[in-house]
Amino acid sequence: MKALDKIIIQIEPLSSEDSKAVYDLFNNEKVLKSYPERPIKELGLTKGFIKRITSKGNWTWKICEENKPESFLGICALHHLDRKNYSIEIGGTLHPDYWGMGLMLQAFELIIEIARNDLKVDQIIGKTSTQNKQAIRLVEKLGFTITKTNQTETLLIKTMIGKKIP
Ligand SMILES: CC(C)(COP(=O)(O)OP(=O)(O)OC[C@H]1O[C@@H](n2cnc3c(N)ncnc32)[C@H](O)[C@@H]1OP(=O)(O)O)[C@@H](O)C(=O)NCCC(=O)NCCS
Repeated sequence: MKALDKIIIQIEPLSSEDSKAVYDLFNNEKVLKSYPERPIKELGLTKGFIKRITSKGNWTWKICEENKPESFLGICALHHLDRKNYSIEIGGTLHPDYWGMGLMLQAFELIIEIARNDLKVDQIIGKTSTQNKQAIRLVEKLGFTITKTNQTETLLIKTMIGKKIP
């Protein structure tokens, strides 16, 4: 790939205006193979889904091409903030057209900095199905290490050096 072809991403807060794109993403055939259950069963349920993943200790962003805030490549999230244990989970879903280009790596680098500087967590948790080698490989590249694994689920943790949540 030529250097000029490299896509640079930016992230924007996800909103209900992204409902159709989010619904299509989570009903994409390749994406569905990553989840044990269809995360959004009907278009009409998407606004509620977006509300859940953007409130009360959950932050979700849409991934756009740099300087194209109208584009939609996928989503990334910090979720289930645990104020007692100073930890949060990380996750994301990219449209299959953009897999294997290091784009979620860029997105996770951005939100790991938010977790470090704004949320001041001590650790970030990645939970995924053990079969999801792409997701495991992705977070290992970001310094996460496997702390627990069985036939169904693998847990990876990245330890941060940061201040406590006030
Ligand atoms: C998991 C996911 C976020 C990875 O994002 P990505 O931007 O493609 O990640 P990377 O480009 O860093 O690739 C990660 C690994 O996936 C594998 N991979 C790359 N392209 C691939 C493709 N087209 N098909 C299958 N696997 C591929 C490679 O092993 C790669 O590691 P490498 O770069 O060391 O070779 C993305 O595949 C995705 O959205 N999957 C569906 C949702 C999901 O599983 N989310 C995680 C749930 S916890």
